[in-house]
Amino acid sequence: MKSLTSLQQLIERRIEEEALKIGVTAPVNLYQPIEYTLGMGGKRLRPVMVLMACDLFGGTIDDALNAALAVEIFHNFTLLHDDIMDQADMRRNRPSVHKKYNENVAILSGDAMSIMAYQYLLKTEGPAYRELVQLFSTTAIEVCEGQQYDMDFEEKLDVSIEDYLNMIRLKTAVLIGCSFKMGALIGQAAPEDADRIYRFGINLGLAFQLQDDLLDVFANQEKFGKKIGGDIVANKKTFLLLKTLELASPPQRAELLSWIGKTTFNPEEKIEAVRQLYTEVNVQELTEQTINSFYQKAMAELEAIQVEKTRKEELMLLAKTIMQREH
Ligand code: IPE
Ligand code: IPE
Ligand code: MG
Ligand code: MG
Ligand code: MG
Repeated sequence: MKSLTSLQQLIERRIEEEALKIGVTAPVNLYQPIEYTLGMGGKRLRPVMVLMACDLFGGTIDDALNAALAVEIFHNFTLLHDDIMDQADMRRNRPSVHKKYNENVAILSGDAMSIMAYQYLLKTEGPAYRELVQLFSTTAIEVCEGQQYDMDFEEKLDVSIEDYLNMIRLKTAVLIGCSFKMGALIGQAAPEDADRIYRFGINLGLAFQLQDDLLDVFANQEKFGKKIGGDIVANKKTFLLLKTLELASPPQRAELLSWIGKTTFNPEEKIEAVRQLYTEVNVQELTEQTINSFYQKAMAELEAIQVEKTRKEELMLLAKTIMQREH
């Protein structure tokens, strides 16, 4: 089993090579932003997931490299459009693409990246090809569905925890599930095991997005690389917001609702006030418990996979690393 760090390095090198190639192509205003995005780091979690799953089932890592690149490029495309939709000006401690260039550039470069992802996938040969394309396409559409719910919920108050979980399953978890399953398919895993590692990814992905919501409020901005409080400013219906509405006393609830209803406000003031309410009802602890319960579900799926336990160690390390992330 290849180590987490060696796989991360492998991906980093390959992405850098690809980014450099892309960046010198004309028209520069289409391709340079792609180089900028791909070259500005990121944790490279999803491509590592593809490689690890392939390795777990005895596949050859080289056979999974193009699929891994496809997933990372697709993920980065979603970030370009997501930052426009969320009016987020900072990512990975740098100006997001729509800020550094402009919105039209971010839309079009993003479009190109989503298609480039398919070009990389197309280079994946072998018996799994058709199923890979099917899985990837279904996942891509689901991410759009999740992103639309995310936007719809900004304007809604009656969002249940179930609605929220479905939304984050679509916008975030399915791509993580897909990454693992693509690796499994390339590694020719048994169908039941491919489904198990998909569910491992779904549960890990739910935990991952809950953690992201938590970090959006409480992280160290320098480490997180994104502007703290963006979700609060945009009235995102995060787990934290929904649970606080549930747990709050009548005056606390009234205060929260009043901040949600304001159309003109000082963003820093709103962030501080809402964070204070979150702290008062101790929603951080409840969120952490929920993260942990999804993590446990993920681990149970991993355990059930019909592969010798020692071969799962790097995947366990990956899952732990994700749980402890600060960015
Ligand atoms: C950010 O994903 C988008 C979410 C689903 C929360 P990552 O946190 O994996 O982003 P990078 O690629 O490491 O920057
Ligand atoms: C990310 O959700 C989902 C996708 C990009 C598809 P967020 O909007 O929470 O991601 P960040 O926090 O901007 O990375
Ligand atoms: Mg966002
Ligand atoms: Mg978003
Ligand atoms: Mg977020």
